[in-house]
Amino acid sequence: MRRLPGSVGGGGGFRPLLAALLALSSASSATASAHVDGTPPSRIAVVGAGIGGSAAAHFLRRHFGADVQLDVYEKGEVGGRLSTVTVNRERYESGGAVLHSLNLHMRDFVEQLGLKYRRGVSGKTAVFDGAEVILEETDWYLLDLFRLWWRYGISFIRLQMWVEEIMEKFVRIYKYQAHGYAFSSVEDLLDSLGGSGFLNMTRRPLSDSLLELGVSQRFIDEVVAPVIRLNYGQNVSVPAFVGAVSLAGAHSNLWAVEGGNKLVCEGLLKTANANLVPARVTSVRLLRSAGDVLQYQLSVAGEEEAATAAYDAVVLAAPLGSGSGVSFLDFDPPLEPAQGDYYGMVATVVHGYLNTSLFGFPDPRLFPYAGVLTTAAPALFFNGVAAVYPVNVSLGFRRKGAHEAGVYKVFSPKVLTREQLKTLFRSYYSAQATEWQAYPRAGSTAAPVEMRPGLYYLNGVDRAGGAAEMSAVAAKNVALLAYHRWYGRSLQVDRKDLMHRIKTEL
Ligand SMILES: Cc1cc2nc3c(=O)[nH]c(=O)nc-3n(C[C@H](O)[C@H](O)[C@H](O)COP(=O)(O)OP(=O)(O)OC[C@H]3O[C@@H](n4cnc5c(N)ncnc54)[C@H](O)[C@@H]3O)c2cc1C
Ligand SMILES: *[C@@H]1O[C@H](CO)[C@@H](O)[C@H](O)[C@H]1NC(C)=O
Ligand SMILES: *[C@@H]1O[C@H](CO)[C@@H](O)[C@H](O)[C@H]1NC(C)=O
Ligand SMILES: *[C@@H]1O[C@H](CO)[C@@H](O)[C@H](O)[C@H]1NC(C)=O
Ligand SMILES: *[C@@H]1O[C@H](CO)[C@@H](O)[C@H](O)[C@H]1NC(C)=O
Repeated sequence: MRRLPGSVGGGGGFRPLLAALLALSSASSATASAHVDGTPPSRIAVVGAGIGGSAAAHFLRRHFGADVQLDVYEKGEVGGRLSTVTVNRERYESGGAVLHSLNLHMRDFVEQLGLKYRRGVSGKTAVFDGAEVILEETDWYLLDLFRLWWRYGISFIRLQMWVEEIMEKFVRIYKYQAHGYAFSSVEDLLDSLGGSGFLNMTRRPLSDSLLELGVSQRFIDEVVAPVIRLNYGQNVSVPAFVGAVSLAGAHSNLWAVEGGNKLVCEGLLKTANANLVPARVTSVRLLRSAGDVLQYQLSVAGEEEAATAAYDAVVLAAPLGSGSGVSFLDFDPPLEPAQGDYYGMVATVVHGYLNTSLFGFPDPRLFPYAGVLTTAAPALFFNGVAAVYPVNVSLGFRRKGAHEAGVYKVFSPKVLTREQLKTLFRSYYSAQATEWQAYPRAGSTAAPVEMRPGLYYLNGVDRAGGAAEMSAVAAKNVALLAYHRWYGRSLQVDRKDLMHRIKTEL
């Protein structure tokens, strides 16, 4: 076996702390490998340069040091589901747009890369039921919706407490990761954070959890369902955990990256000194050498399919849905990553005049909202529409009134027809649709993070509620896992009772 047993990482006391410090030291990774009498891997491949793949490259470099060759394969654009479109010479987020104040990895990246936080522009959001606006907030953020307690009684407090409790547990991951702990499956990761309660939440519908909490059906229909429709394009049957991630986003402390969220991906690849290969990976082949050493070889599409060099480890940081086009060769038993389908969601950035009559405001000057969410019934052709701001908001930027031409983002399950656009907009100059394979369908099966020794899958985390930060957390986890496996530090993987363990380590 080439996985050398580690000389550090046994027992209690200071040793796990030492291991964690070694795992965390970036500049001194060469020292780290000397400490475990092991050579670093020579080549690691990452497939996908979204935030997951870019962050994985960043953390792999930190853990394995300067000598390993890091190749990152990307078939499309760096950033993946973090992407922008250009309208009228300004760029707008077309995928993942807002980040939460507790997205600690994303914040770290922005700070390390010297990027700036984008200025927010406030505006009100309303909920439309197909006939009229049934709810409006007093400010941009949905938190204000929750203040409409007279309409919903205690429901909004219950919901808020539920989400906060989940967030409190979720942020434990940062502590575990700072101590160098990794997990070989998303289920183990969630279990370590919130026990069986979290696991149950990945399996039962959001609506069941909320009703059990005592949240009223009316609140679910009028507040929760519109938020889930907007964020995930689905109904309140999404798993409760996905719902909690989504509702945590309906909060006031949101931010974005000036110049576009995808700048984080570009920056991380650069500082990781990763070798970006613009190519689509079509297969992963298992190579087994005489010493029973597992290595992997990729095939990339091109005029002729070409096989790459052998990799000591491969991180798949792209969704492996049934349409992914990546096959697994020479695995025994065969490897069939049954991740299920990702469903489509369309984001259309429209430059034009919103048809405010649709929402009961014949005079656009009187239309007070920046965004409109929609209820699930009746099934409207769009999930939500909101005025959007360029990725560079200049100091003099002012939100336009609905009587002026503005830029809006519309989310819909299908590409909007001309008729539909003409209903939603009095007239428009341009409409650019991006069709996303957005999120796994509810009920798709779990895939382990560790598919085989040295072969890792990052996007299993999408099932637990896809968000940029979730992929960043998964990236840190994959890098730690790869590192511990390489150096045989199994004590740092899938440990139970971490809350207690970390307290005693300190
Ligand atoms: C419309 C929309 C709105 C969203 N809004 C938010 C939001 O407000 N806040 C938030 O936090 N999150 C949001 N998300 C979710 C967030 O964008 C994603 O969870 C996150 O960006 C996923 O990152 P990733 O790197 O894991 O995957 P991806 O970004 O999908 O990256 C995978 C990359 O792999 C590449 N790839 C795939 N197959 C291959 C192959 N065979 N060979 C080579 N390369 C390959 C792809 O081209 C892609 O670049 C939104 C998503 C969508 C679609
Ligand atoms: C999770 O579900 C199992 C089985 O239904 C149950 O025994 C357990 O108590 C649940 N855990 C929590 C915290 O609700
Ligand atoms: C929610 O959507 C799923 C499919 O995504 C569907 O099977 C289910 O019936 C829907 N539930 C409701 C309450 O509309
Ligand atoms: C937009 O923001 C990025 C990142 O801060 C900056 O580099 C760029 O110069 C800005 N562009 C404009 C047109 O202001
Ligand atoms: C705007 O919406 C109203 C109300 O639904 C509709 O009658 C009208 O045809 C729409 N289009 C325009 C251009 O006003």
